[in-house]
Amino acid sequence: MSINPLPPPREPTGLGRLPVARWFLIMGLVAGVVLLAGIVIAMMFGSRARALARAPGVAEQLDQLNMVLIVLFAVMLAFGIALAFIIRFAVLKPIDQLAQQVRTVAAGDFDHTLHVDRPAELAVLSSHVDSMRRRIVSAWRMADDQAEELRRSNGELEQFAYVASHDLQEPLRKIASFTQMLEQRYGSELDERAKQYIHYAVDGAKRMQLLINDLLDFSRVSRVTGGKTTVDTGKTLDTALDNLSATIEDTEATVTRDELPAIRGNRVQLTQLFQNLVENAIKFRSEASPRIHIGATRSGDMWEFSCSDNGIGVESKYADRIFLIFQRLHPRDVYPGTGIGLALCRKIVEYHGGQLWLDGDAEGRGATFRWTLPAAGDDDA
Ligand SMILES: Nc1ncnc2c1ncn2[C@@H]1O[C@H](COP(=O)(O)OP(=O)(O)OP(=O)(O)O)[C@@H](O)[C@H]1O
Ligand SMILES: [Mg+2]
Repeated sequence: MSINPLPPPREPTGLGRLPVARWFLIMGLVAGVVLLAGIVIAMMFGSRARALARAPGVAEQLDQLNMVLIVLFAVMLAFGIALAFIIRFAVLKPIDQLAQQVRTVAAGDFDHTLHVDRPAELAVLSSHVDSMRRRIVSAWRMADDQAEELRRSNGELEQFAYVASHDLQEPLRKIASFTQMLEQRYGSELDERAKQYIHYAVDGAKRMQLLINDLLDFSRVSRVTGGKTTVDTGKTLDTALDNLSATIEDTEATVTRDELPAIRGNRVQLTQLFQNLVENAIKFRSEASPRIHIGATRSGDMWEFSCSDNGIGVESKYADRIFLIFQRLHPRDVYPGTGIGLALCRKIVEYHGGQLWLDGDAEGRGATFRWTLPAAGDDDA
């Protein structure tokens, strides 16, 4: 199992830089020196008192006092040494052990167990940290397995959509063309109603052909050939507008733009993206002739693009629905189309590592779509 190792720990600052062991050593030395100095001073006072008071009982008492002070110093020294050993082996060494184990886990070995036997507080702490590690690892593994499963089933679905739509085309073409032949050949023998039925059948077959073609386009997004290169989005927009030139002329649409950047992506798909968005902006126009603006602003490693129009707009409650495949908000006879455009656009943008959404807060009437795409590296630009 591997994951990016954690960043190096933050360096302690100020007094906290000194390790605990060093603090104990310093404090122990200071306490020892003070105790020794205290005893020496007490002995000096004692010998001075001995010089002043000649009585034999006093000298004896002072000798005993000196003895007591020396024994006290020896006992304190023994305690100090014992305390140092206890701290060293019962506290500092286990802390060091635990720190070592935590470092190993932090460096990426997430199966490494965290455990120290003593002291009791550290043993409890280490068992809590270890159970936290185990829970995180198992949640992470589960998420990893699910992601893998999702990737696999996604791949299968795409494969299924591709094969199904590809293989459905031929029988459908047959249905459409033979029904048309039926009409041509026996048209004179058929009454009006029969002709109408044939017309419905051909219309249905043609519509299904359109849907299948759209489905094919959709399933092809992540199996593109040609890969990603540095793409000048200004030129891509030019190509898209060229493809839409007849519609633009008919509707007297005006398309303005910011200076458009170079990004890393697939030229053909990015043309499709612009084309679908501009086509929608024209198709869903209001009474005024369409005015469309394509914007771009840099945001970190990404560019954020926008396409805003002065058309009929989209109610914000439909902001998610419009991106679903074959979902439309209007009847087909009012606005033609199959409802794949935005689903395709979102798939293209996500394939490039970006996001596409309807900007519900955009000012003015009409619709504004926004999407992000990775900027071309400075070397590529
Ligand atoms: N610029 C826009 N202004 C208003 N409504 C829009 C706009 N773009 C999309 N929509 C709404 O979102 C729906 C889905 O758009 P999408 O492009 O997926 O499908 P379509 O344009 O209807 O069909 P197709 O793109 O397959 O020809 C549209 O039917 C329309 O209701
Ligand atoms: Mg569309």
